[in-house]
Amino acid sequence: MIRNLLIMVMACSFAACSSGGSSENQGNESAEKEEVSPEESVKLEQYMVAGESLYNQYCYMCHQTNGEGLTDLYPPLAESDYMENNFEEVICILRYGKSGEIVVNGKTYNQLMPEQPMLKDLEIAEIATYIYNSWGHSRGLIPVTEVTELLSNCEGAN
Ligand code: HEC
Repeated sequence: MIRNLLIMVMACSFAACSSGGSSENQGNESAEKEEVSPEESVKLEQYMVAGESLYNQYCYMCHQTNGEGLTDLYPPLAESDYMENNFEEVICILRYGKSGEIVVNGKTYNQLMPEQPMLKDLEIAEIATYIYNSWGHSRGLIPVTEVTELLSNCEGAN
């Protein structure tokens, strides 16, 4: 009897009871601010951490760690109006690259961004979430399901 009770208490403190209790509280708090569920904010946090590390592997050498870009060669992601106005295309660019003229924050660029076919859908979702929630952007979580759907519609897909 005592043993069973102990097991219940332990199980309770590890998972069931604590998450049940706190999600109720968080539900009330977040309802006052924004409609973001606790699950979604944990996921956002995870995507941000993974996305930052991928960014610092695949993107920073051109767009720089602070997202400011580099001289006339590489356009900024920080405060980028292009990112705000072309969300669907940006998801495609992350995998398929881009060439030709592009205007970002009033300045014209014309260089090649190489394709990055090794990036998995989840990695693109993580990178997208990172760049879209840094440097003046605040789009929230960009889930991998949405990214997979968008990628299947890119020019150059298949
Ligand atoms: C070799 C340099 C290089 C790398 C690496 C690179 N980019 Fe780019 N990126 C560019 C160039 C150049 C352009 C503009 C292309 C053009 O002129 O058409 C661009 C355009 C963009 C744009 C749209 C324009 C803007 O500034 O809003 C985004 C967003 C972007 N890159 C994000 C990324 C991300 C995220 C990564 C990493 C996964 C990455 N890039 C890797 C060079 C690079």
